[in-house]
Amino acid sequence: MKTILILGARGNLGVQLVKIFKNNNYEVIAWDRKEIDITDKELITKKINDIKPGIIINAAAYNAVDKCEEDEKEFELAYKINGEAVGFLVEAALKVNAILVHYSTDYVFAGDKQEGYSEDDKPSPINKYGETKLAGEKEIISSSGKGLKWYLIRTSKLFGPPGKSPAAKPSFFDLMVNLAVNRRELEVVDAEISSFTYTSDLAHATLELIEERYGYGIYHLINEGACTWYEAACELFKMLEKDIKIKPVSPEHFPRPAKRPLYSILLNTKFKKLRNWREALKEYLNIR
Ligand SMILES: NC(=O)c1ccc[n+]([C@@H]2O[C@H](COP(=O)([O-])OP(=O)(O)OC[C@H]3O[C@@H](n4cnc5c(N)ncnc54)[C@H](OP(=O)(O)O)[C@@H]3O)[C@@H](O)[C@H]2O)c1
Repeated sequence: MKTILILGARGNLGVQLVKIFKNNNYEVIAWDRKEIDITDKELITKKINDIKPGIIINAAAYNAVDKCEEDEKEFELAYKINGEAVGFLVEAALKVNAILVHYSTDYVFAGDKQEGYSEDDKPSPINKYGETKLAGEKEIISSSGKGLKWYLIRTSKLFGPPGKSPAAKPSFFDLMVNLAVNRRELEVVDAEISSFTYTSDLAHATLELIEERYGYGIYHLINEGACTWYEAACELFKMLEKDIKIKPVSPEHFPRPAKRPLYSILLNTKFKKLRNWREALKEYLNIR
């Protein structure tokens, strides 16, 4: 049986990864912050060396985009988790010769390319969260020459069953459903075009990437069909047959500390295309 270590195992994506790898006969070691703080270099090196997993999947991350934009201490923490700690995982993976899988984001791109970004496009983040995720990417890519076996998966706008961690961010669709309970009208930003991604589909694609031995490198794994938040909300309430007015507004209507890319469509040119997000959303709504 293959041993796999999943970090961030109680997060939104982590929970799906644990489920799917267990269902496929892996011996899954599932750690979250309670078991290990990934910013503790000594501990991470020792504990990974003790268990010697064949594969390490890092789904742990700092994801509070606005908080780390305006608070210097939060930014330092985000940089440690999303940047430096990835370097510790690289070293630990190299020592035990494990495959390292790590997730990044469309927010590493500036958002000025309407036709979308392919895996080889040059990142240029416009917010601090994006900077921290790019720092993590660099830790991995710069270790290619040292013999690291790696998959760097960029994804965006995750949705799916909520993670088990109390801090796991509720997805956009769950937020919309909750907001709609007591309202007859919702204002939703009709901008920031990118791709929604169902965590269950992403976890399956991660399994396939590993099992089918795709070449090591960068992958863009998202559900097909990019849209704005407004378009997604309209589709959601149409599927739910909920009678509610959705009003499109500009991003300036809801000022937020961190800038968001206007167009951050990830183009998947190296892996088979995942299904359209509408199909995935339909499935999610049926299991909710
Ligand atoms: N969510 C999105 O829309 C989105 C979009 C693009 C890319 N991504 C990327 O996709 C990946 C998965 O995201 P997600 O939404 O599933 O994240 P999530 O739900 O926020 O889960 C992250 C997990 O990491 C854990 N964690 C945080 N700091 C840690 C530390 N220092 N040591 C150990 N564990 C730590 C958290 O534990 P605590 O709860 O205890 O803090 C949490 O369980 C991340 O790399 C993220 O950047 C996400």
